[in-house]
Amino acid sequence: MKTVYVLNGPNLNLLGMREPAIYGSATLDDVKKLCEAACERHGLKLEFRQSNHEGELVDWVHEAGRVHAKGELAAVVMNAGAYTHTSVAILDAIKGTAVPLVELHISNVHARESFRHHSYLSAAARAVMCGFGVAGYGLAIDAVAQW
Ligand code: DQA
Repeated sequence: MKTVYVLNGPNLNLLGMREPAIYGSATLDDVKKLCEAACERHGLKLEFRQSNHEGELVDWVHEAGRVHAKGELAAVVMNAGAYTHTSVAILDAIKGTAVPLVELHISNVHARESFRHHSYLSAAARAVMCGFGVAGYGLAIDAVAQW
C-alpha cells in the first residue's frame, strides 16, 4: 500500500475561521476527513500534517523522500500556504528528494494579489492545482492514485 503525504503549511490550521469568503468554512479536520475518504477509495495510506514552520515542512518532505526511495510513496500533495511564494528551502527539498509533488491551493492564487502569482514550488511540481476549494484535496488524491 503506497502512502500519500498531504502537507499543509502556515495558517492552514485556521481554516474554517480564516477569511471564509476566500477559503470557505471547512476546517482542517474536515479536510483531513475528506483526504481519508479519498485514500480509502484508492487503497492508499494517508499521512496528513500541518505546520507553521518552514523547517518542519522541509523535514517532512525529506521523510516522504525516504518513503519514495523505498518505492512506497504515491505522492506529496502540498499546500505550502505563503511559503509557496517565498521558500527556496522547500523547493530544494522537493528537488533533492525528487518526490512526485502536487502543488495545491484552495483559492485561485492567480486571481488574487500579484505576490501570490509566483510559486517557487511549481518548477519542481508534477502537477499544480488551485481554485477548487477544499475539494481540490480529494481531486488531487484521485489523480495521484492513477500515477
Ligand atoms: C493558499 C494561497 C496562498 O497564497 C496563501 O498564502 C495561503 C493559502 C491557498 O490554499 O489558497 O496560505 O495556499
